[in-house]
Amino acid sequence: MTRGTTNPNRLRRMDRWIAATHGAALRRASDPLAVDLGYGAAPWTAVELLTRLRTAAPRTRVAGVEIDPVRVAAARPYEREGLVFRHGGFEVPVPGRPVLIRAANVLRQYDEAEVAPVWRQLCARLGPGGLLVEGTCDEIGRRHVWVALGLEGPRTVTFAARLGSLERPSDLAERLPKALIHRNVPGEPVHAFLRDFDRAWAAAAPYASYGARQRWMRAVRDLTADWPVTDAPARWRQGEVTVAWAALAPAG
Ligand SMILES: C[S@@+](CC[C@H](N)C(=O)[O-])C[C@H]1O[C@@H](n2cnc3c(N)ncnc32)[C@H](O)[C@@H]1O
Repeated sequence: MTRGTTNPNRLRRMDRWIAATHGAALRRASDPLAVDLGYGAAPWTAVELLTRLRTAAPRTRVAGVEIDPVRVAAARPYEREGLVFRHGGFEVPVPGRPVLIRAANVLRQYDEAEVAPVWRQLCARLGPGGLLVEGTCDEIGRRHVWVALGLEGPRTVTFAARLGSLERPSDLAERLPKALIHRNVPGEPVHAFLRDFDRAWAAAAPYASYGARQRWMRAVRDLTADWPVTDAPARWRQGEVTVAWAALAPAG
C-alpha cells in the first residue's frame, strides 16, 4: 500500500504521446477501451486520460483500476459517460480486451524481478494491436521515462521532459522505470545511452541561445548516428525522444 501520490496534469506528457502514437489504433478498435492501472488516491489521471484520448479517438472509454478499495470508493462519484472505476490489480478486471493499459508510477514500488512477469501478465490482457505503457515520472510531470510494449513484448523507451527544467539529459535517470533504474551503471546499455546523450547535449551547447528545444533537437539528431531512435523531429520538438527497447535492455 502506498500514499497513492498523484497530481492533476502529472501525466500530460504521457497522455499526449499515447494520443499521438496510439490514437489510430483506438480509432480503429470496435471497443476502444483504455485502462488507467493504479490511478492513485485521486481520479485525476483517469479523467485526463479520457479527455486527451478522446481528442484523438472520440469513442474511447477509460476504466480506472486500483488495488486499494478506499481509492475506488473515493473515485466512484467521478464516474461519467465513458469513465468507470474498478477494484483490482494486474489481472485487470474489466470485460473484454483493452486497446491500451497505462501503468504510471505503479511498478516502482515492486522488485525489479517482478517487472517481467507483470509485463507478461498485462500484455496478455491486451486486445489485437494493443499497447502497454509503463513508466515513471516526478510529482509534477516534468520528467518522464516509459516503456511501450505490444503483445509480443517491449518495443520502445521514451524519455520526455520539460526542457527548461533540465540541466542535462541524464537528469532523467532518476525517473527510469523499474526495469532500467538499477541498470544505470557502467557496462549497461542505458548507462551508455545517457552518457552519449549528455555528450551530445554538451556538443549542442551553442544551440542553447535559440532555446532548450533547439538544443535538445540537435542533441537527439546527433544521437541518431549511434542509437536506434525510432521517432522524428515532430516528437523531439515536444521534448521527447523514443529509442528501441532492444538497444537499452539490461545486459545480463
Ligand atoms: C504512486 S500512485 C500513482 C498514481 C498515478 N498513476 C500517477 O502516476 O500519478 C500508485 C498507485 O498504484 C496502486 N497500485 C499498486 N499496485 C497495484 C496493482 N497491482 N494494481 C492496481 N493498482 C496498484 C497503488 O495503490 C497506488 O494508488
